[in-house]
Amino acid sequence: MNLTTAIRCAGILLIALSAACGADLDSSPTYHRDVSRVMQKHCIVCHREGGVAPFSLETKDDVEANAPMIEEVLRRGTMPPWFAAPMKNAKESPWANERVLTRQEKTILKQWARAGFPEGDPADAPQPVTFPKGWQIDPDDIFTAPAVDVQATGIMDYVYLTVETGVTEDRWVDAIQILPGAPQVVHHVLAFIIPPDGDSSDVNGVDYWGVYAPGSNPQIYPDGYARRLPAGSRLLLSMHYTPNGEAAVDQTRIGVRFADQPPDCEVLTASILDTSFEIPPGAENYKVTASVRLPRDIEILGYLPHSHLRGKAARYEVISRSGRRKILLDVPQYDFNWQLLYLYKKPLRVRRGSVLRYTAWYDNSENNPANPDPTVPVRWGEQTFDEMHLGYVEFVVPRRR
Ligand code: HEC
Repeated sequence: MNLTTAIRCAGILLIALSAACGADLDSSPTYHRDVSRVMQKHCIVCHREGGVAPFSLETKDDVEANAPMIEEVLRRGTMPPWFAAPMKNAKESPWANERVLTRQEKTILKQWARAGFPEGDPADAPQPVTFPKGWQIDPDDIFTAPAVDVQATGIMDYVYLTVETGVTEDRWVDAIQILPGAPQVVHHVLAFIIPPDGDSSDVNGVDYWGVYAPGSNPQIYPDGYARRLPAGSRLLLSMHYTPNGEAAVDQTRIGVRFADQPPDCEVLTASILDTSFEIPPGAENYKVTASVRLPRDIEILGYLPHSHLRGKAARYEVISRSGRRKILLDVPQYDFNWQLLYLYKKPLRVRRGSVLRYTAWYDNSENNPANPDPTVPVRWGEQTFDEMHLGYVEFVVPRRR
């Protein structure tokens, strides 16, 4: 070994050693070097000035003041909002938009609290991050919903809005962005197509077309994928507002990018649903199941399990023609507040003849703090005090090769 290689090797060894020191947290973590990075990566997309969360986690004081509550939500797994159980036997997570802290990131937060919240050196702080405010796609057309007065306090039931699109011929849309006017109070939006000769009752909450949740990216489809926007259609928006102490006016807009040519694959949403259930008063763990047998091969892009205030858990499974059952998505703790789309990194091909099964569990007992009335039977309906059993599946029908 000549001298230059020796020096180079020593250099590499040094880098390796310092990386190892960072990893096993021998020295206590500091706010500027460690904690701020965890917050940046996982929390402040919502927990910031003007964000949808009720308080900011942008400064050391913010994080320190909320430390016990942060420890609690991390222990219970309720924050950051992501409710899919880890996949058993999977080498890596199949989800593209997962929000999960690593064990090391959780350790950083715990040790920092235990060490008395050391601030550290501001020179170690990461570059501040910025979050896009306006359009992240370059929209060819923008549809504007009517303005809504959002009350200052209390709970608001879903608000349904009809939006004109003015499209006079069938269009293919390869990117959709739903942009709330007052994002600090918009907890989710689902957009449905109202057919040209129909009205909003033809929609009935089935088969969404667009979706918005705080901190989520616009729907941008890969090459060759697009959604159809039929001539003369209007959109029905289902708006979930969460009053935050200050009255606001929200005017949500929907931006779309048109594809130059018809796609190879039409992106569709279907739902596996049961509309005939009745959850008895007081039932703690009422199970409702529905299935569909696939008439052709499909590629699944993602899932969005939908229940209301009694929703407790949800699960998607596939049963192959030979009878093998596999869990696709397991949500052991459903949170009505979060209408999350669980998106695959790589679409999942499912064969014709397989059965997709969607099961949801409901808690209509007084132990469910969100339950508006444990003494009544609950059936299908649009408002949050009614229930839904809706397992959305976003998919394409691949072209025959
Ligand atoms: C996608 C947006 C979003 C992200 C990301 C997020 N939060 Fe939240 N957080 C909220 C909202 C909104 C609430 C209000 C309660 C609710 O709606 O569930 C909340 C509530 C909380 C609460 C109060 C307890 C409660 O359940 O109400 C704590 C503590 C909290 N978040 C901590 C965190 C931490 C720590 C992170 C990052 C590790 C994080 N959150 C990431 C949106 C978010």
